[in-house]
Amino acid sequence: MRFLYQILTAVAVVSLVAGACKKGSTKAEMRRLPEGLKVGVATAAFQIEGGWNASDKSPSIWDTYSHTPGLIKDGTDGNDTCKSYEYYQRDIKMLKFLGVDFYRFSISWPRVLPSGFANKISKDGIGYYSKLVDELLANGIEPVVTMYHWDLPQSLQDLGGWANPLIADWFEDYARVLYDALGDRVKTWITLNEPKQFLIFGYGMNRFAPNIVSPGIGDYIAVKNALMAHARAWHLYDKEYRETQKGTIGITIATDFREGASDSPADIEAGKLAMDFEVGFYSDPIFSSTGDFPERMVKRIAEKSAEQGFPRSRLPELSQEEIEFIKGTSDFFGFNHYSTKFYSPDKYTNGTFAVPSYEDDIGAVADYGGYELAPMIHTTKIPKGIRKALNWVKDKYNNPRVMITENGYGNFGGDDDLDRIDYYRAYIDAILDAIEVDGCNVETYTAWSLMDNFEWDSGLKAKFGLFEVDFEDDKRTRKARLSALWYKDLIANRALDPAEPKFEEILF
Ligand code: BGC
Repeated sequence: MRFLYQILTAVAVVSLVAGACKKGSTKAEMRRLPEGLKVGVATAAFQIEGGWNASDKSPSIWDTYSHTPGLIKDGTDGNDTCKSYEYYQRDIKMLKFLGVDFYRFSISWPRVLPSGFANKISKDGIGYYSKLVDELLANGIEPVVTMYHWDLPQSLQDLGGWANPLIADWFEDYARVLYDALGDRVKTWITLNEPKQFLIFGYGMNRFAPNIVSPGIGDYIAVKNALMAHARAWHLYDKEYRETQKGTIGITIATDFREGASDSPADIEAGKLAMDFEVGFYSDPIFSSTGDFPERMVKRIAEKSAEQGFPRSRLPELSQEEIEFIKGTSDFFGFNHYSTKFYSPDKYTNGTFAVPSYEDDIGAVADYGGYELAPMIHTTKIPKGIRKALNWVKDKYNNPRVMITENGYGNFGGDDDLDRIDYYRAYIDAILDAIEVDGCNVETYTAWSLMDNFEWDSGLKAKFGLFEVDFEDDKRTRKARLSALWYKDLIANRALDPAEPKFEEILF
């Protein structure tokens, strides 16, 4: 009898809870956001501004790249994109509509310094960003500013770009210009966005600007120079600006997760090595207590280089002085995440990749582990991977402050974007597990992206926006997607809503 009573009570409680949730909802979908978690959206200069030759702006490496026939998959270019250089006030209205706490955007180096060097600052260029910052603040939106999101002045590339160690001087000079002009109002700086993507894809593969294909050599040289440049900008801020401007400054690293394809020791080891190549390459020198590149990786590249007849490792060494200079140079871990890949050395045979190369140094084959592939494959939905990646950062680097500076889903458009909402919901849920269950120290969440934009080598056809942009329309009218309405609700309710909002047509 007592047993029957317990069952009846349990059934009653379950139906009560189910009744309280909207139809089809689950516990996860009802979750509240932790207090203090700030929510925003991100874009990058080259992807949204257009105005590629407005005023005295000089070309960036992405202007050169996208003007070269055959390099952008859909044949589009970045000349106009969303025309945010002209219509930035509309972007602010959209941000206001969403109710975000902050807006992460980037600054175009050749717009601010047309020669690439700090000899002459463009009045119009710096003026544009100054107005943008002012208007964001006037609307109660905090600016989060990336100093470099891949659009290097072509003039500096002509001198070797990131493969020239002098880039550290040039970047420090550029940083000083930005702190002087905007640092009274900008309190969060990100030096570099995703070093792996612009250095390995840009100097080791024919995928990204500047299209220098020097696999396993030029890309590794560029990584060392970029770390030094980042550290120079951080030290400059720390020494000369922090006290007066009172801001925070760090780096953003692509922290997609990598793991073994199975539980075999060889696969597990391949997963760890891949994580070192993908993330630790950039994060260990800055965030680990010892500094320097990951040991496993240093050893692997040294061994392969010797086998290949190189008189020294293809991976440049960091001197003790450089190790100390780079170590500790980020106030937070800027964390971008899109998906997870699974590694196995088993299927790897000579000839799979060029020798030498980054992929050959990893020496394993990767896939998405049988998960349903997203239209933009690198955004394939594997939400548990973000929780693992956040825990990897926490365990390895003594639980640093983490700012999630990008997370998002790419498709090719369509009637609705329920797939995008589904992705965001699942990833935010996994992030909340990482915060609440695992104790990860996450301070911000940033959706990529505010609106459709120029998706690098994939051009304008790839869609990442909460807002759809009409690229056929001269005014580049933006329309809120269902995901924009969903994200607006998430921010307003500070909770993961179980139901999709009703669609209404909202144009900007
Ligand atoms: C980059 C963005 C890009 C996004 C989606 C990130 O790697 O920072 O610029 O648009 O991924 O692919």
